[in-house]
Amino acid sequence: MPKDSVTITDNSTGKTIEIPIRRGTHGPAVMDVSGLYKNLGIFTYDPGFLSTASCESDITFIDGGKGVLLYRGYPIEQLAEHSSFLEVCYLLWYGALPTKDQFEKFRWIISHHTMVHEGLREFYSGFRRDAHPMAVMVGVVGALSAFYHDSLDIRDERSREISAHRLIAKMPTIAAWAYRYSRGEPLPYPRNNLGYAENFLHMMFSYPSEDYTIKPVTAKALDLIFLLHADHEQNASTSTVRLAGSSQANPFACVSAGVGTLWGPAHGGANEAVIKMLEQIEDVKNIDKYVAKAKDHNDPFRLMGFGHRVYKNYDPRAKIIRKACLEVLEELKVDDPLFEIAMRLEEIALKDEYFIEKKLYPNVDFYSGIIQRALRIPTSMFTVIFTIGRTIGWISQWGEMITEKVQRIGRPRQLYIGEAKRDYVPMDQR
Ligand code: ACO
Repeated sequence: MPKDSVTITDNSTGKTIEIPIRRGTHGPAVMDVSGLYKNLGIFTYDPGFLSTASCESDITFIDGGKGVLLYRGYPIEQLAEHSSFLEVCYLLWYGALPTKDQFEKFRWIISHHTMVHEGLREFYSGFRRDAHPMAVMVGVVGALSAFYHDSLDIRDERSREISAHRLIAKMPTIAAWAYRYSRGEPLPYPRNNLGYAENFLHMMFSYPSEDYTIKPVTAKALDLIFLLHADHEQNASTSTVRLAGSSQANPFACVSAGVGTLWGPAHGGANEAVIKMLEQIEDVKNIDKYVAKAKDHNDPFRLMGFGHRVYKNYDPRAKIIRKACLEVLEELKVDDPLFEIAMRLEEIALKDEYFIEKKLYPNVDFYSGIIQRALRIPTSMFTVIFTIGRTIGWISQWGEMITEKVQRIGRPRQLYIGEAKRDYVPMDQR
């Protein structure tokens, strides 16, 4: 009998098998049930993947109980304080922190891939002006595969690297243009002399008719937002990217599937939903009423920006962004009444028995919406900004998956509960 295993007996047949247990660097061990069906004729059933590890990964680790987040082993707090989004991109894709030369080369490559094919620019005029920018993102990101054929060979390491560079570099351009198009404004070209966040701000807010000055505090805060969203192991959008990739679809198609998944309010759409909720609450005096609604099971209302599938403690990203948020509000002298509501709501919810018992803490989205508001980012762009940050996570997880030794298409099974086999009845006899 292997030492690290569990014994499973099917009581209906008496058949017993050993399920090997595997242990990683950190985190819970996993039962390797890949042989379960072959040996016992039984599937596992785990809707929403509450107890299922879908892959091996050496990219990101989360301890939801302790509120720990590591990118390639480095704590998020250290990266937030000392690193930058582009350095984190290098770390996630290549697996190690860059030397000065490696970083300079990487920065040069990314800044020289920010332009998009002129034909792609024409896509924008096909969208309605009132389209949500995330709807535009889903379409345009998927369309990249129609323009960059030369890097679609998923079995070629260099092609994969070029695709990764293209996605990191072009995402801010695609995103800013989605916003500018919605306003009927010119779509500014990127500027290679600007940093990653600065370039995005330039494309979001500059006009050909006047100079645009980028405030360092704004660029720094935006870079931090990108960095905090860079990866989060096997969340819904990343798992979507991996599943799409398992069919050997090209990286642009896989990432556009991730963009679509991120859009939902239970995932990346929550930052936009937080602001809408705070506007709906309208006044500090209404908070108790909304907290009561959130606790009422017959009311679909939930406190947006609260709760997380993995974090049963304070989301470490929320702590960092909360602090940054206070700094930005003070430095930019923003007096936002929604922030007062948010602070009070957080205070009330954290003391409430319902939220304590269910371990519902503020997540990163609770503050990312408020900080982006202070930076004058329009609400409809909040999830788009999340998309820019998460692109490196998606492509790194895709790159890891596509180089695994055994390549299998992701194909979950099911518990069928429909009609038993029955015979077709001709229409005139029904
Ligand atoms: N407000 C009120 N009650 C909540 C909330 C909330 N925000 N979140 C969870 N609960 C309650 C549920 O009603 C459930 O109660 P029950 O056990 O009595 O039925 C319990 O807490 C567990 O909730 P689940 O929905 O089962 O937890 P799950 O892990 O499936 O969902 C999720 C996590 C989707 C994040 C959920 O907490 C939620 O909807 N939060 C609001 C949306 C949000 O902020 N999403 C952003 C997630 S972070 C990210 O994507 C970056």
